Amino acid sequence: MRKPMVVANWKMHGTLAEARVLAAQVRDGLRRTRGVEVVLCPPFTALAAVADALAGSAIGLGAQNCHWEASGAFTGEVSAAMLVELGCRLVVLGHSERRQHLGEADHQVNLKVRAALHHGLVPLLCVGESAHERSQGLTFTTVEGQLRAGLGGVSPDAIGRCIVAYEPIWAIGTGVNATPAQASEVHGYLRGLLSELASKEVAQTVRILYGGSVKPENAAELLREPEIDGALVGGASLQAATFVGIVKKAAVRGANPKE
Ligand code: 13P
Repeated sequence: MRKPMVVANWKMHGTLAEARVLAAQVRDGLRRTRGVEVVLCPPFTALAAVADALAGSAIGLGAQNCHWEASGAFTGEVSAAMLVELGCRLVVLGHSERRQHLGEADHQVNLKVRAALHHGLVPLLCVGESAHERSQGLTFTTVEGQLRAGLGGVSPDAIGRCIVAYEPIWAIGTGVNATPAQASEVHGYLRGLLSELASKEVAQTVRILYGGSVKPENAAELLREPEIDGALVGGASLQAATFVGIVKKAAVRGANPKE
């Protein structure tokens, strides 16, 4: 049984003061919510403050990126070991914004996934096709390449400690989410690949989240799909009320598992 998970990706948003308020509001809004795992991923600068705000709650802390080396001459980078020190449990890796705008390549994502695992962080590996790739019929080819490369050299056991996020680029920040059927089809395909890369048993335990214009209004229908194990939320995670609304939809799914 896969416990639903909702992850907030705040991206490059929020002053320290705003981050403190938002984290506290989410914490208070979810005090009585059960059956769903929640992780907030603020910018690096707000990690310590958000860790303070979440102390004593069940909400986890995550980061949006890390370097693959533990330390060294890598100006501007932050290592997995440093994130662990701040209390992070999870790290988002291979987000399409980093791939597109910062030139992050599959082999770097793979090094990061392995570093995260080595340091006990849960890698949240993001994959997803562009609108052009989808129109060319390359959706499966694209996500397959990203998944195989991202998990290259990772043992079956360690694959079981990863989380995958399917985030079609055309759905990110556009207000146009993938339909439940579109997302479900890709999630099923990814799970098939995970069976091949690890085993059927391991693949059944790996959570595959959907990301791209998730909001309280569409969360229930997306999360109703047996293959969709949760959400990776960008814009709607920047308001406590909308993020809490999404988490509550996932909690309903957690309380009424489909499988
Ligand atoms: P939006 O929810 O703003 O579409 O962003 C999705 C995303 O990129 C989360 O990582």
